[in-house]
Amino acid sequence: MEKKITVLPGDGIGPEVVAAAVRVLKVIGKRYNHDFQLGYAAIGGAAIDQFNNPLPDETIAMCEQSDAVLLGAVGGPKWDNNPAELRPELGLLKIRKTFDLFANLRPVKAFPSLLDSSPLKREVAENVDLMIVRELTGGIYFGEKKRDNEEASDLNIYTRREIERIVENAFELARLRRGKLCSVDKANVLETSRLWRQIVEEKKELYPDVVVEHNLVDSVAMKLITNPGHYDVVVTDNMFGDILSDEASVITGSLGVLPSASIRSDSFGLYEPVHGSAPEIAGQGIANPAATILSVAMMLQYSFGMKEEAAEIERAVNTVFEDGYFTADLVKDGGRALTTDEFTDKVIAEIDTSFVAD
Ligand code: NAD
Ligand code: IPM
Ligand code: MN
Repeated sequence: MEKKITVLPGDGIGPEVVAAAVRVLKVIGKRYNHDFQLGYAAIGGAAIDQFNNPLPDETIAMCEQSDAVLLGAVGGPKWDNNPAELRPELGLLKIRKTFDLFANLRPVKAFPSLLDSSPLKREVAENVDLMIVRELTGGIYFGEKKRDNEEASDLNIYTRREIERIVENAFELARLRRGKLCSVDKANVLETSRLWRQIVEEKKELYPDVVVEHNLVDSVAMKLITNPGHYDVVVTDNMFGDILSDEASVITGSLGVLPSASIRSDSFGLYEPVHGSAPEIAGQGIANPAATILSVAMMLQYSFGMKEEAAEIERAVNTVFEDGYFTADLVKDGGRALTTDEFTDKVIAEIDTSFVAD
C-alpha cells in the first residue's frame, strides 16, 4: 500500500522519539512491502522559532495532503512566557481542531514485564487493559477565554452533537472490547457534565449489550489506580481525559509507554505519545521511544487498516521488554538503562531478523 504521512517532530524529546518511531515505520514498510512516503513539517516551539507561528499554513497544507500524521510533542521553558497566541501548545490544539480530531484514544495496557517498574502492587496493575476515550476538540480547552489583571475565565462549553459523537464512539469501542463503559463526569456540580450524563443515558438504549456506569471524576481518580482492572472503556471530556490518562500511566510503569490516536469518522488520524516534550531529559538520547513507536502501531491499525503490521510492532516492543531491556524511566535497582537508539535497535531487530546494530 502507498501512504502519505506527515511527520511533526516538535520540541524537546519530540524529535528524538519521532526519529525512533520513523525507523520502526520504515522497517515495517520494507518487510510488508508498503510505500510509506514521509514529509516533515514544523509545529510548536520549533515552528514559532522558524515561522513565528505554532501551526504554520504550510504544515496544515501538508497534513491535508496526507493519510495520517505522526507527532512528537510540543512545548518547553523557552516559550513558557510567550503570549497565548505564540505558545507551542496552541499549535497542538489548533491541529486537533482544524482536522476535527474529536476522539482521542488512549489505551492503557500493563506489559507483564513492566509490572516491577510500577509503584502499584503487582496484583493491582497486572492484566490491566483499558481504553480512555477522551473528547478532544471541545470543552474548557476551546471555550471563550478572557483575562485582565483582576479576573480570568475559561468557558467550559459542550454542544449536544459534540457529546453525542464521542459517546457513540466509546459505545462502539466498548462493544468491540469487553462490553463495559464507564462515563466520567462531575455531574454533581457542572451543567456540562449533567448534559453529558443525560446523553450517555439516551445512547445506552441503542447499546443494550454494553454495561454502563457513571462515575464522578474525583472518585475515578482514586479507583483508577486502586482497582484499574475494573475498567474497560472510560469515556470523558477533554480536561478530565487529559488528567486521568497521565494518572493511568502509573499502572504501566511509565508515561513513556502510552500511545494515542486522535481520530474522526474517516480514516485520517493524528498519532502521538501521551507524554510531553520532557525538557529536562531532552537532548540526552535517553527518552523512552515506546509510546511513539506504539503510536505508529495505532496509525497502522486505525488509519491504514494494517492489523498484522500493528500487531507485529506491539509484539516486538513487548518482546524487548520481556528480554529485560528498558530505557532509564523503567529501569529498576541498578539495572542498565538503554538509550533511545539502543532500545529502538532492539525493537527493529525483532521485526527484521537480518538487522544488526552498529
Ligand atoms: P511531560 O510529559 O513532558 O513529562 C512528565 C514526566 O515524565 C517528566 O519527568 C519526564 O521526564 C517524563 N517523561 C515523559 N515522557 C518521557 C519519555 N518518553 N521517556 C522518559 N521519560 C519521560 O510533562 P511536563 O513536564 O509537564 O511538560 C513538559 C512540556 O511538554 C510542557 O511544555 C507541556 O506543555 C508539554 N506537553 C506537551 C504534550 C504534547 O505535545 N502532546 C503533552 C504533555 C505536555
Ligand atoms: C496532551 C497534552 C496537551 C493537552 C497540551 C500540551 C495542550 O497535555 O496531549 O495530553 O492538554 O491536551
Ligand atoms: Mn496531557
